[in-house]
Amino acid sequence: MDVPPTAAARAAALRCEIAAHDYAYYVLAAPTVPDAEYDRLFRELQALEAEYPALQTPDSPTRRVGGAPRSDLPAVRHAVPMLSIRTETDAGPGGATAFDLRVRRELKLAADDPPVEYNAELKFDGIAMSLRYEAGVLARAATRGDGEVGEDVTPNVRTIRAIPLRLLGAAPAVLEVRGEVFMRRDEFERLNERQRAEGGKVFVNPRNATAGFVRQLDPRVTAMRPLSFFAYGVGEVAGWVLPGSQSELLDALAAWGLPVSAERAVVRGADGLLAFHARVAGRRDALPFDIDGVVYKVDSIALQERLGFVTREPRWACAHKFPAQEELTTVEGIEVQVGRTGKLTPVARLAPVFVGGVTVSNATLHNEDFVRSLDLRIGDRVTVRRAGDVIPQIVAVQSHARSADVTPFAMPLHCPACGSRVLRDEAEKDHRCTGGLFCPAQRKQALLHFAGRRAMDIEGLGDKLVDALVEQSLVHTPADLFKLGLGTLANLPRMAGKSAANLLAALDKARSTTLARFIYALGIRHVGESTARDLARHFASLDALLAADEAELQAVPDVGPVVAQSVARFCAEPHNREVIAQLRAAGVSWTEGEALRPTAAAGPAAGRTFVLTGTLPTLTRERAAEMIVAAGGKVSAAVSKKTDYVVAGTEAGGKLDRAQALGVAVIDEAALRRLLETATSPDN
Ligand code: IVH
Repeated sequence: MDVPPTAAARAAALRCEIAAHDYAYYVLAAPTVPDAEYDRLFRELQALEAEYPALQTPDSPTRRVGGAPRSDLPAVRHAVPMLSIRTETDAGPGGATAFDLRVRRELKLAADDPPVEYNAELKFDGIAMSLRYEAGVLARAATRGDGEVGEDVTPNVRTIRAIPLRLLGAAPAVLEVRGEVFMRRDEFERLNERQRAEGGKVFVNPRNATAGFVRQLDPRVTAMRPLSFFAYGVGEVAGWVLPGSQSELLDALAAWGLPVSAERAVVRGADGLLAFHARVAGRRDALPFDIDGVVYKVDSIALQERLGFVTREPRWACAHKFPAQEELTTVEGIEVQVGRTGKLTPVARLAPVFVGGVTVSNATLHNEDFVRSLDLRIGDRVTVRRAGDVIPQIVAVQSHARSADVTPFAMPLHCPACGSRVLRDEAEKDHRCTGGLFCPAQRKQALLHFAGRRAMDIEGLGDKLVDALVEQSLVHTPADLFKLGLGTLANLPRMAGKSAANLLAALDKARSTTLARFIYALGIRHVGESTARDLARHFASLDALLAADEAELQAVPDVGPVVAQSVARFCAEPHNREVIAQLRAAGVSWTEGEALRPTAAAGPAAGRTFVLTGTLPTLTRERAAEMIVAAGGKVSAAVSKKTDYVVAGTEAGGKLDRAQALGVAVIDEAALRRLLETATSPDN
């Protein structure tokens, strides 16, 4: 068949582009495009070569699997090649059905034969690794390389604590364990935070960071990095008879002390595969590490042997992928938002892109330094990453493919909302509007914060309403909210008489609050919910707080000089005192001294940190938090090793997983009540 010149030119261009990406990825360890984009280019080239075989050149990137081994690491020939697996093209339910159908056809099963059993696993998004144990001792670790020859990375891999240096119990003469080295997402975020603070290299994603550390030349550097490992198969084995199934093989590896993910299941037929796929897809964000899909393997080793291989892929396994967590898009503009404390945040407006299962059209750029470190310009093509419950981030700029008409970004000298001067806070690397509550943007955010669920909890006072109230100059300070009348409210756009009355009722309800909520609602810089509670507990009355100087404030547990100064300054400001007086005059009240129950400091909850997650059967989270605090405990938003209890309700997500991973005690509402009873009963 004649090859049309356009096809030949396109194939040549693709080969060239893919080779450049390969070089950047494998040699420089600095990828230029997201995997999804690379895969598209690769598939386009494969399709062209399939249609016009004359286009297949020996140097085509489609001729090799995986990457070229790096020349400066010793090469290792794998005793048993490290294969790849076929990816089902249909990312929807069709993928599982197609695989099951193919397996049944190859096995010559009739329609009424029983369903095939599969071992369904996670597809870990890390670096494939072969660990060779000789007489139970880790003798060598090698990357996959091109599947035949990999790189010897033994010294680096020895530093990974998840990988046993010696297997437990009686071990075979030779056991090559195949699996994936990866980095947990929280470790990755921490690593990048550190790198950013130290001006070091910032990594695009956990996999690139892992690849870098596994393949770099100084094991001391790898040793400092928090890498993990999951085993999913074996290579060469001598002196051991393999069990009858993949699931038992994984059990055996686990029994030798190798980490094997618990997120696996033996399922039956296409329905079983689909159910597993759906379950894992629903939990993807809650997992502490990245996965890019699931892997299905025929469970019976005997059937696997019957099925065999096509070229370099087993017929008995396939990958069923999830939506990519990184995609390319264009920065159409950079807008600057003004926050409650006047901080200016540049936000990238993106051409909408489907990434990590959602459509993303904005990404925060944090501050000017962040934009600089990326060298981001308006009009640039960028890689957007959305993984886990982390907000979407721009992680790389395609500066090599930049067009001439991109525009650099600079922070404005005047506030985009009020025109006041903008000052750079050197210590915090932030730009701030100096307009204070004169600035409508700051005022709006302050009001939203004041009305928030964790603050005064004014139901129905949302974004749109606050916009209207500020724009029509009806509300300048939080105190003005309580002066609003039915007539004024009902005249606002989209406000029917009923919703105006509802808002008044909500305001009325919000009048009776707690001192801690009130302090938090004021929006003092550096005073979050937990500090507000500490202050309320310590001073027990607002007047005592207002009268405190910095030294007295620092006597509060967990209050340092920065917080003390911020609180003292806020309280000294006549304008703030006036607003507080007006709020009290408007009937905002709480029971003073409530927080200073003598039992609170000594109760069983004292010194204990709780994290609330999911929906509790009878308590709202706010109420549960108040009860914990009243009993002397602390409530924190994130689970860490310091957490004492995670109180979990229904639909608890990532926090529950993390608690289990860290071995933190998980209790339900009933257990919480029992625990707090002794702490609060003497008062009640
Ligand atoms: S099995 C013969 N199982 O996906 C089958 N691979 O092309 C060999 N991967 O880079 C692979 N999770 O490192 C298998 N549970 C899993 C996996 C998995 C991730 C990676 C593997 C390789 C690619 C397969």
